[in-house]
Order: sequence, then C-alpha cells, then structure tokens
Amino acid sequence: MDKTYIIANWKSNKTQKESQDWLSAYKELSFPDDKEVIVCPPFTLLATSAWFLNSNSLSLKLGAQNVSAFLAGSYTGEIYAEQVKEYAAYTIIGHSERRNLFHESNEEIEQKVTNAKAAGLEVIFCVQDQNTPIPQAVTIVAYEPVSAIGSGNPDTPENAVIVAKAIKEKNPQVRSILYGGSVTAENVNSFTSQKEISGVLVGKASLDPQSFQGIIQNA
Ligand code: PGA
Repeated sequence: MDKTYIIANWKSNKTQKESQDWLSAYKELSFPDDKEVIVCPPFTLLATSAWFLNSNSLSLKLGAQNVSAFLAGSYTGEIYAEQVKEYAAYTIIGHSERRNLFHESNEEIEQKVTNAKAAGLEVIFCVQDQNTPIPQAVTIVAYEPVSAIGSGNPDTPENAVIVAKAIKEKNPQVRSILYGGSVTAENVNSFTSQKEISGVLVGKASLDPQSFQGIIQNA
C-alpha cells in the first residue's frame, strides 16, 4: 500500500528550546504504518532534533528544507547533501520560496536533486504547476500553487487532482504527489481522500504541535 506523507515545513522558524518543546508533544504518539510523518526543521535544529528523536524513540522522520547545489568545498554559508544525510532521510528541494526569493534556477535545482540522491536522501520536489520541469530521479512531488501558500486560500481538491494527473502523465517516474498550501486539520482529508494525492506538505499549521497532530489524525 502507498504511504500517506504528512510533512511539516517549519521554514525559518523555531529556536532550540521551541523545537524541543514541539518534539516533546510527540513523545507518547505512534502513527499507523501507512502514515510517514516527516519534520523539516532549519539546518541548525537537525542535529539536536535527530538526537531527541533517537533518545525518545519517536516515530517521526527528519528532513531538511534545502541542500547545496555544490559538494564539500569553499562555498561559504552552504550545507551539502552528505552533511544533511548524517541526520535526515529526506530533503525538500525547489520550494517556491527558494525559486522566487533566492532565484534558484531549474538547472541549480536539478543539481541539488543529483547531489541529494547521490548522498542517499529522498527528495520531496516542489512544483508550482504541471509545467515545472521535474528531474528524472524524482519520485515524490509536492504540488504547491503559490497563491495557496500561507494565504489561507487553498486550491480545491478537484483542481489538485487535475494537476496531479497532468504531472503523472508528463513524468511517469513520479510515484507520489502531495498537495501543499494552506493545509489545516479541517481541510486535509479533502485532499488525502483523493486517490491521486498521497499526502500533504504543511507550513504554518505545522508550527503548533497540536494543530499538526490534528492534521496527522485527519489525513
Ligand atoms: P502553508 O505553507 O501551509 O503555510 O501554506 C506550505 C508550504 O509552503 O510548504
């Protein structure tokens, strides 16, 4: 059976203390085998989050929000894929905030995918519509229309299904398509109940541990 991915993208939020408080709220929780729950904290919190998950045997998985387009070397301020792999199993690549605010090109994004895969990371590849080029190595895609991100104005499940079908048609290597953009505990099931949608990528509503738990439960 295909897994349902429920992914928290904390973006540039949370201190050490705040992240430990969030993770503590997951100490007594276990998830059914068909739900893959992944938390993507900022780089500074990956090591301590990994330590916390291991020492408390939590069933959450870790992901990064980005990796460098370069390997190890003289690239000030960059974090390369093998450094991420020491702590995380996944990485988001190509989020629209990186494409738009940091001007990441399709070529740069493709290089990031190559590096992430070579390091053994599973890639959660973000696209804004069905026309975004998807590298051959990508099997998990998150469809996130820009107008839905952080706006409280999600896409309709019907349109998300149309886009998911178009993505699969153009990119037969893609196995799972997730939806992202203003997902909440109230609307998550309208997306995950569609057979073409294999999960959700959640920004704002993932910052509060209880509201994210509501999303996991209802997905
Ligand atoms: P949002 O963000 O849930 O706050 O809309 C989603 C995302 O950008 O991944």
